[in-house]
Amino acid sequence: MLGSLRVRLPALFLLGILVSGLLAAAIALRLFQDYTRGQSFDELQREASGLSQLYADAALRAADEGAAAPDFAAEKLELATGDRLFYVGVSVFPGQESGLKRIPEASLPGGVTVFDDATTFEFTPPGESRVFLAASEPLRLEPDTEPFGAVIVAKPQTALRDQWTPLIARLAIAFGLGALLAGVLSWWLSRRITGPVLVLSHAADQIAAGDYAVNVPPARGGDEISHLSERFGEMAARLAATEERERQFLMTVSHELRTPLTAIKGHVDALRDGLVDDPDLMQESLAVVAAEAVRLERLVGDVLDLAKLRAHRFTVQSEEVDMARLVEQAFGAFGDEARRRDIDYRLVEEGSGPTLLTDGDRVLQVITNLLQNAFRWTPDDGTVELVLRQGNGTVHVEVADSGPGISPEEREQIFRPFHSTDTQGTGLGLPIARELAGALGGRIELESTVGRGSRFRLVLRPPAS
Ligand SMILES: Nc1ncnc2c1ncn2[C@@H]1O[C@H](COP(=O)(O)OP(=O)(O)OP(=O)(O)O)[C@@H](O)[C@H]1O
Ligand SMILES: [Mg+2]
Repeated sequence: MLGSLRVRLPALFLLGILVSGLLAAAIALRLFQDYTRGQSFDELQREASGLSQLYADAALRAADEGAAAPDFAAEKLELATGDRLFYVGVSVFPGQESGLKRIPEASLPGGVTVFDDATTFEFTPPGESRVFLAASEPLRLEPDTEPFGAVIVAKPQTALRDQWTPLIARLAIAFGLGALLAGVLSWWLSRRITGPVLVLSHAADQIAAGDYAVNVPPARGGDEISHLSERFGEMAARLAATEERERQFLMTVSHELRTPLTAIKGHVDALRDGLVDDPDLMQESLAVVAAEAVRLERLVGDVLDLAKLRAHRFTVQSEEVDMARLVEQAFGAFGDEARRRDIDYRLVEEGSGPTLLTDGDRVLQVITNLLQNAFRWTPDDGTVELVLRQGNGTVHVEVADSGPGISPEEREQIFRPFHSTDTQGTGLGLPIARELAGALGGRIELESTVGRGSRFRLVLRPPAS
């Protein structure tokens, strides 16, 4: 269950979203901390600057008038700042420390120079355990004179935390809501993705178990998964069709084998039981047995050839073949029949006789097959033409006849095993010829007009250079 895509995908989505959410929250918090810290320093600096002005004015007046410490200033300062105000430097109000907490310069962190310029820093004031954020401002009686001290305004660092805490709480709520939404979204999204994948997975199980009648509903969306579903459905349909074809093939083969066997068995039984005693009839029976045995032998040979070709277990030689000689050889084999039946039988050779790197015996087998059909279907006094043509980078061997022609509906069927309208034929000639042509790297084309004749064309690879 945990290994299922349906669980792993949303879990992965959610994990990714949670990690990036946490990272974003941590970065936001960090930025906010930096921002509030900067803001606090700015505020402290402004306070320090204002108070130092006030303090310097009071000190100047006290110096001018030789008066005592300006109580009003001390009170004001104390009111304004409470215990967050420190003073470093010489006492300018003898006998009075005013509202400022005087601290030794040595209690400031190393490297902090409060007398030169306005500065900000962190420090732990004497008698305190907390860390304070601080801003200092030098004190001068007159501009451009030596500072006699510095005012430090500070506030505990923990005050910043009060600003962050509500932010953390809000971030946590937003994060929780976001995670919930992301969870629902990733669950919905992964269901959309895994739904069709699970259907495919079940269909694949079914096919693996040998059941090709699977139903793969088309997935919506036009994405890769819907493409996969579509192709998977087609593949299953093709597998089912192939299985059906193989079954049909096997049934037809058994049926075709049984016909001559039944005839042989009938004649042999009759002879053995002494049912035929006339010597002429006996000879006739034996002739039938012999003819059926030949037919059987041819049938078995053809079926084997076709099975090997289909399983790509057919070995084809590769030799230099003089196509003109080969075609003349094929042509010569039917000369007698043509003369006997008054068929106008012609050999046409166009172009210089090409040489091909191919399997001569197999090419001859295909041409002979086509010629056999042409002579079978051409009436006496008809025409059969054998053409060797070279052009367009291919070599064509054409067999044209003036037979009945083949209707467009039949043009594909005649290449299927056992499709035959010839009582003597097996219906394996053309399927074998087509597979052979394919094995030789070529193809067979057909042009035909019903009532006028057919033209079968063997197209072979370009001539060897
Ligand atoms: N030249 C042709 N003219 C008309 N019909 C043809 C021609 N060639 C083939 N056919 C048709 O195609 C069918 C299949 O031919 P194919 O060569 O495969 O088998 P076959 O000739 O019947 O038997 P086999 O060649 O095995 O003895 C034939 O039965 C016939 O109906
Ligand atoms: Mg044939």
